[in-house]
Amino acid sequence: MNVVGLMSGTSADGIDAAVVSLEGAPPRLDWRLLAHVTVAHPPELRDRIFAAFRPETGAVDRLCRLNFDLGAAFADAARAAMDAAQLKPEDVALIGSHGQTVWHEPPTRGTSGATLQIGSAAVIAERTGITTISNFRARDVAAGGHGAPLTSFVDALLFRHPTRTRAIQNIGGIGNVTFLPPLGSSRDPIAFDTGPGNMLIDYCAARASAGAQSFDRDGKLAARGQAQPAWLAELMAHDYFRAPPPKTTGRELFGAQFGAQVWQRGQALHLSDADILATVTAFTAESIAQAYRDFAPIRLDEVYLAGGGVRNPTLVEMIRARIAPVKAYSHDELGVSASAKEAVTFAVLAYETYHGRAGNLPSCTGAAHRVVLGDLTPGKNQLSLLRAFGARNDKADEEECG
Ligand SMILES: Nc1ncnc2c1ncn2[C@@H]1O[C@H](COP(=O)(O)OP(=O)(O)O)[C@@H](O)[C@H]1O
Ligand SMILES: [Mg+2]
Repeated sequence: MNVVGLMSGTSADGIDAAVVSLEGAPPRLDWRLLAHVTVAHPPELRDRIFAAFRPETGAVDRLCRLNFDLGAAFADAARAAMDAAQLKPEDVALIGSHGQTVWHEPPTRGTSGATLQIGSAAVIAERTGITTISNFRARDVAAGGHGAPLTSFVDALLFRHPTRTRAIQNIGGIGNVTFLPPLGSSRDPIAFDTGPGNMLIDYCAARASAGAQSFDRDGKLAARGQAQPAWLAELMAHDYFRAPPPKTTGRELFGAQFGAQVWQRGQALHLSDADILATVTAFTAESIAQAYRDFAPIRLDEVYLAGGGVRNPTLVEMIRARIAPVKAYSHDELGVSASAKEAVTFAVLAYETYHGRAGNLPSCTGAAHRVVLGDLTPGKNQLSLLRAFGARNDKADEEECG
């Protein structure tokens, strides 16, 4: 079955779309990445997404419009990925779309969580004709979880090692990690958000360049400065880092408001723009290393880095220095490129949902139990999908009956 996975993360830089060929069922799930594309958001759309992140600017009329316009953008990205894989829509069974998170409230003691991803699945199914599964996070949240990190399920399924303990670290707008004990270990995987990934770096790069740069390309600005240890310690005193997992965060905590405070503090300390960039980059690296020291259930053997942050060598070097002697590799070495990782995740999760199997790990998201994730929006291919599904089950029943 060919499945397209779609993701637009908290960086809101663009849409990652992957086409994955999938066969079988866990624990023997065969997968092959056929193509991956990143479609950058036009600046106008990016501005509207950023406006949607804040209660002051994210009015319901704008959210309503954006939900539909993003649906169209996701459909276009799915088409671009199918073109790259040289597949026609008729060759693709499913689309799994994460959507764009615009607001996320983690569950707290006594209060359930709430999360909102937009990018209308109706528009995606209408424009592509392909059955679309969306809104993966909501069901885990409804079951008492954080709805994240959902990559944990796919990490545990595809990347556990027979003898080595791995950490799979994604560095998107927010950072998140999955700790994977070896296969056969009685320990469960653990996953959580480590804190800001590129979010604060992006904010400060935009401030330092008067809006000309939306991120610190190749970590060049930070490389010219010096991280300030005392200020870094101040930043690390944030309550988020002390809270035990499961835990998740987003722009509500580390977005523009936090960025503005950090920028102001850097100015008050009379630091150069480069020193501010170096310190916030070190902040991301230190929050990741600190999370490993505090919450890794057993000693780590190796770390794999995914997400756009991998393309910032200053950040990667700072992480390497802090986790040594444990080595960090690129996620590419696991057979899925660092930038395709999350899109692949949502293709696999759509495949699992379609087959009626649960896609969350309660040890990672904090949900009360395992649940089948997502909403299903039928495409033109829905009837043929159902027929194929029914035929396979009839065959399985016949075989079972001898
Ligand atoms: N060449 C680069 N140099 C430095 N940072 C980069 C580079 N390319 C991408 N990035 C960073 O990666 C981010 C996008 O990463 P991504 O994994 O797509 O995050 P998200 O899932 O939050 O959208 C950008 O906002 C930027 O911070
Ligand atoms: Mg992105």
